[in-house]
Amino acid sequence: MAAVRRWPRKLAVLAAALPGAGSQGRAAAPGPAVLPAPGPTEEPAPEPVPGTAAPATAALYVHWPYCRKRCSYCNFNTYVVRALDEAAVRACLVREAQTLLRLSQVHRCVYGVRSEWALLRSSVPTCNSPPSASSVTSVFFGGGTPSLAGPGTVAAVLEAVAGAAHLAAAAEVTLEANPSSASISRLAGFRAAGVNRLSIGVQSLDDSELRMLGREHTAAEARQAVEAARGLFPGRTSMDLLFGLPGQSRDAWAQRLEAALGLCDDHISLYQLTLERGTALAAQVRGGALPEPPQDLLADMYETARNVLVATGFRHYEVSNFARKGALSTHNLSYWRADEYIGVGPGAHGRFVLRGEGGCSREARVQTLEPVTWMREVQSHGHGTRSRVVLNPLEQLEELLTLGLRTDEGITHECWGHFSPQFSLQDVFGEPGEARALQQSGWLVLDSGGLRCTWAGLAVLDSLLPDLLWQLQRALGAARCPPRDKEGQDARAVSGHDGQ
Ligand SMILES: *[C@@H]1O[C@H](CO)[C@@H](O)[C@H](O)[C@H]1NC(C)=O
Ligand code: SF4
Repeated sequence: MAAVRRWPRKLAVLAAALPGAGSQGRAAAPGPAVLPAPGPTEEPAPEPVPGTAAPATAALYVHWPYCRKRCSYCNFNTYVVRALDEAAVRACLVREAQTLLRLSQVHRCVYGVRSEWALLRSSVPTCNSPPSASSVTSVFFGGGTPSLAGPGTVAAVLEAVAGAAHLAAAAEVTLEANPSSASISRLAGFRAAGVNRLSIGVQSLDDSELRMLGREHTAAEARQAVEAARGLFPGRTSMDLLFGLPGQSRDAWAQRLEAALGLCDDHISLYQLTLERGTALAAQVRGGALPEPPQDLLADMYETARNVLVATGFRHYEVSNFARKGALSTHNLSYWRADEYIGVGPGAHGRFVLRGEGGCSREARVQTLEPVTWMREVQSHGHGTRSRVVLNPLEQLEELLTLGLRTDEGITHECWGHFSPQFSLQDVFGEPGEARALQQSGWLVLDSGGLRCTWAGLAVLDSLLPDLLWQLQRALGAARCPPRDKEGQDARAVSGHDGQ
């Protein structure tokens, strides 16, 4: 639900790389017109040739675009509709999942990375690695309010995934639930459908704050929901909390946090409330009805929270995420490690290689935002992809840098090498320059483990990234990486020509 919003504006594009990050305001940029596509049965997948490729994997995100009521701070891609034809939505989610799994062939193209470098050098990419295994490592039902979907819908999507790809019995399957649609019987239904992890949108444990946020539930209902969830999903219940509400004092936040600690399981996601343009709450603040939280107070609240959580045994493993007893979200880790992921449903984002079409380049893909239009497209083409863009090596490394540095583990040499076989982390960031200066100031570390933020650096990552991105661009520019508007265009022209 709450996408992480601790990004300066210029990084918004990269922030939008996260699946489900599509908000109406941000992701509505005009993409190419919808791409005509043959139906899913018309193109046979290449025959697997065992032993020629490493088994490929992807995470799968499923977007449920409906809520009962819009919260005052929300600009996510969500819709309030009176009468929903759930069977039709279900059929479309199933069909799109099948199509995209087939197109991705969910396996790793071992030659793909090198081919992209070749592509930039105007040679023809070759990808000779047919699939040897396809496996979905995790599934995440986000929204919107996916707990409003019937368990039968969740079961149908999971069955389709298991039918089209390998879905290990132990794979993490998360569902976001709102306290107002999280009764024990409902949650038990989701568990029976195959969900094994819940993420509960608590947001606050104070009724007046919940009212300001326009949430449908009370603090007592949030408590009941978390307790029900913990009973059914012990050790695998996460809680979302917001801080930095207009008028919230530092003491009030400390109290909320303490209440949350008394209730929580082993995972907490902490988001700073951002006043997004076009939301009711932002209008109230602009109109002077509510005060705008001062920046230094926000920084202070964040610092308080991470200190308190770490002192109670949580690992601050990502800018907004805390886990204890190893309860990290494997699904979200795959974004931060720049693994492949497939996004299904209105407005969902994906990053994967079109192996089903013999492709070997990582593409950024966004599905059509508006659910009715999306459904029509899925019904006629098997998927509702609105835009596809081949990411050039620089863009891939920019994403890896921006996302990878969000974790405490940072970017390992191995992961970097996967995207950049030619220039090591040391080549790009080890020379005198911005990264060196940031290391000397104690914000960053580059060592045998890789490149990562220090404890202090993690809290100010947004302010470190522009310098690092600049250094990366220079380093790759020096290697004569063509700018986007020249040869880069060729690689991007894929959008719109063949309809996948
Ligand atoms: C994890 O990923 C989901 C799906 O993209 C997203 O909605 C959610 O906000 C993310 N959660 C965290 C903890 O970052
Ligand atoms: S529950 Fe509220 S915050 Fe979450 S997607 Fe729906 S309207 Fe937005």
